[in-house]
Amino acid sequence: MKGLTEEQKKKVEDLLSQMTLEEKIGQMNQESPSIVGGFDVPFEELIEMMTDGRISKEEFGQIMSNATQDFHEEDIKKGLVGSLMVQDPVKVNELQKIAVEESRLGIPLIFGLDVIHGFRSVYPIAIAEAGTFDTDLMERTARMAAKESRAAGVAWHFAPMLDVARDARWGRVSEGPGEDPCLGSQFARAKIRGLQNDHSATENYVAACLKHYVGYGACESGRDYNTVSMAMHVFYNNYLKPFQAAVDEGAQTVMAAFNDLNGVPCTVNRFLLRDILKDSMGFPGFVVSDANAIRECVVHGIAEDHMDAGVQAVNAGMDMDMGTEIYVKNLKTAVENGTVSMDVIDEAVRRILSVKMWLGLFDHPYVTEEAMKRYETLPKEHTDLAREAAEKSIVLLKNEDGLLPLKKDTKIALVGALADNREEIIGAWAMSWQEKDCVTILEGMKSTFENVKYFPCGGPEGDIDMNDILKAEDYGDVIVAVMGELVSMSGEASSRSNITLPGRQKELIEMLMHTGKPVILVLMNGRPLALEWENNYVPVIVEAWHLGIQMGNAVARVLSGDVNPEGRLSSSFPAVTGQCPVYYNHPNTGRPASRSKFTSRYLDAPFDSLYPFGYGLSYTTYTYSDLTVKEEGDALDISVKVTNAGDRDGRETVQFYMQDVAASLVRPVKELKGFEKVSLAAGETKEIRFSLKKADMGFYDNERNYHLEDGLFRIYAGGSSRDCLMQEIRLSF
Ligand code: GLC
Repeated sequence: MKGLTEEQKKKVEDLLSQMTLEEKIGQMNQESPSIVGGFDVPFEELIEMMTDGRISKEEFGQIMSNATQDFHEEDIKKGLVGSLMVQDPVKVNELQKIAVEESRLGIPLIFGLDVIHGFRSVYPIAIAEAGTFDTDLMERTARMAAKESRAAGVAWHFAPMLDVARDARWGRVSEGPGEDPCLGSQFARAKIRGLQNDHSATENYVAACLKHYVGYGACESGRDYNTVSMAMHVFYNNYLKPFQAAVDEGAQTVMAAFNDLNGVPCTVNRFLLRDILKDSMGFPGFVVSDANAIRECVVHGIAEDHMDAGVQAVNAGMDMDMGTEIYVKNLKTAVENGTVSMDVIDEAVRRILSVKMWLGLFDHPYVTEEAMKRYETLPKEHTDLAREAAEKSIVLLKNEDGLLPLKKDTKIALVGALADNREEIIGAWAMSWQEKDCVTILEGMKSTFENVKYFPCGGPEGDIDMNDILKAEDYGDVIVAVMGELVSMSGEASSRSNITLPGRQKELIEMLMHTGKPVILVLMNGRPLALEWENNYVPVIVEAWHLGIQMGNAVARVLSGDVNPEGRLSSSFPAVTGQCPVYYNHPNTGRPASRSKFTSRYLDAPFDSLYPFGYGLSYTTYTYSDLTVKEEGDALDISVKVTNAGDRDGRETVQFYMQDVAASLVRPVKELKGFEKVSLAAGETKEIRFSLKKADMGFYDNERNYHLEDGLFRIYAGGSSRDCLMQEIRLSF
C-alpha cells in the first residue's frame, strides 16, 4: 500500500493474524441501511410495485411512514461489516462506536458515499468541470469536497467517475470527464491529488474510488448497464487510460463496473481485476463491486447461483461486496470446501485494512462535535470556489451579432420553470447539499440585472402556459429562456433514445421566437443534446449544464459580461441523435465522410458533430499563428502564438493534438496530447510552448504491446479539435 509506514504495515499483519475467518469475511462486506418493517415484501419489491403502479406514491409513503432503518448494529458488533453507506455524522459515530468499542477486535468501519461533485458545496457535474480544462480548479474542488465530507465522517468517496463516453444517449456521461482519454487522465490525476494528498490532518483527505472499472461508457446503444464489446486496442488506447493515470497518482480504491466486457462481467473478470489492475498496474488498494453487482452475475448468466457468483468474484480479485451479503453468507463455506483459498481472503482483507490504516481510522475513528458543525454555514471560500467552478464551466456555443453580454439595465423576460428551481441546478448524485446554499438562475439574474421579470411558461415536463408566454412577449427587450433536462433525466439509469430538448420546450422556444424579440437560450442539462434546430434558429445559445449551488450567480455574471465565458466542450454535441456515438478522435476510414455519395456519411444528417470536442466561444476572439515543431532530444518542442484579437481580456484553452498518419493499426485523425489555459489581455499575444514526449506518441495494439513507429506525424494547435494549425514532421524513434 503506497504511503503506509513499515510500522503501519506490521499493525495490519498483526491484526490479520488475530482475525477469525468470519471476521476476515466481515471486512469484505459493505452494507447500506436496510429499510425494514411496515411491509411484508422486500423493499426492492415495494419500489417496483410503486414504479409499475401496483401501489400509489401515497400508499408507498404511508407504508414507509411505518418503516424503520436497519443499520446492521448486531452484525457490526460481531465484526461482520467492514463498511457502510451513511452520511449523517451522529449516526456515523454511533455505528463506529459499536465497531470500535463493542466488536472483538475493534476494527473501525469505513463510511463511503457518492460524493461525485461536492458534498455540501456542490460544484458543477463532471462533464462540465472537465470542460474548464483547468486541472488546478479540479484539484481544489476535490479538496473542498474531501474536507466537507470527512467532517461528516465520510472518509471514502465513490469518485472520480472516469468512464470515457462517446454516446450521449447514456445518462451517465454527466458524471464523467467526457470523450477524451487525455483530458480524462488529467482530470483523474487532479481529482486524486485533491481528494487524497492533503495529509496535514486526517480530516483533510479521503480515499478515492475509481469507477466504473472499466469500459462502462461504451454500453451498446447508450443503454445503461448494456453489454460492452470492443477491440482491445480501442480499450487500451481510450477507456483504460484514465484509470492507469489515477492508479499512477496513488488512488486507494477501485469500483468494478456493472457491464460485461467482451462477454465477461467486470465483477468477475480476473483479466481486468488481477492481470491488468493489480498485477500489471501494481494497484495496491482494494476493489469494491458496484451495488448489487455480484448478485447480478447470476442474471448476466456467468454464475449459476449466489455461491458461484461470490466464489468467481473473490477469486477474480473483487475484495469487497457492495450490498448483497453474498460474501458473508457464502465465503466461509467456500474456504472450507476449498473453492476459495485463505490466501485470497487474506489478500482482500489486507488491502481493506491497509486503506483504513492509510486513512488514519484506527487512530481517529470518530467525528468531533466541532467538525460536525463546521460546515453548517458554508465558508465564503467554499461558496466562492463553487461559483468560480460554475463560471468557468459555462460554454458559449453561439452568440449571433454579439448579442451577449447584456447591459445591466436591459429589460429581461426570464422564461422557463428551470430558472426558479433549486433542486434542478444541483445535478446528478448530489445528496448532502442544503437548499439555503443554492442560488437559482432567477435569484442570480435579479441580483445582477435591474429589470428582470419572470414567466415560468413551461419546462422539461408538462404543458406550456400560453398566458405566461403572452406576458413574456409584452415585457422586455430580450428573452432569456432557460431550458434543458431535469436532473432525473441524466445520471444513472437515465438513457434517452432522443436527446433533443425534452417535453414541449422546442415549441415554447418557437413561440418565444415569434415575438420577434431576441431569444437567449440558456441550457441546463446533464449530457450533450442534439441541437440542430436550436442552432439554426436561436441567435444565442449558452451551455450551462447543472452547475451546483452557485449556478444562478454564475449564469448571471456570464450573461452580464462580468465574467468572460471560458468553458469548452469535453464531449461533442451531435446535430441529431442518430449520429450517436459521435466523437472527434475517430479513425479516418477508407472513405471519410464528404459530399460524395460513396463515403462514410448519412443521407439525412451531417457526419460531423454540431459542436466539436474542445469548442467554446468567448466575448473576445483568439487567433493562432507561427506553429513550429522541433525535435529536442526525447521530445518535440511545439510552439504557437496566440493573440487576443478582441477588446476584452479572457482566458483561452490552447489545445495540442497529434495524428500518427500511417501506423500498423489505424489511428485517430486527431488525439489530444496536452492543453494549457492562458490569460490574454485585449490585444496581447503570447507564445505557448508544449513539450510532447516522444514516448507518449505511441499506441497499444490488441495484445497491449506499446508501439512507437517511425513515420509521418501531424501536430496540431488550436482553440478546439476542429480549428487548428498543423505542421508535419517525420520521426524515427
Ligand atoms: C450505483 C452506481 C455507482 C455508485 C453505487 C453506490 O449503482 O453505479 O456509481 O457509486 O451504486 O451508490
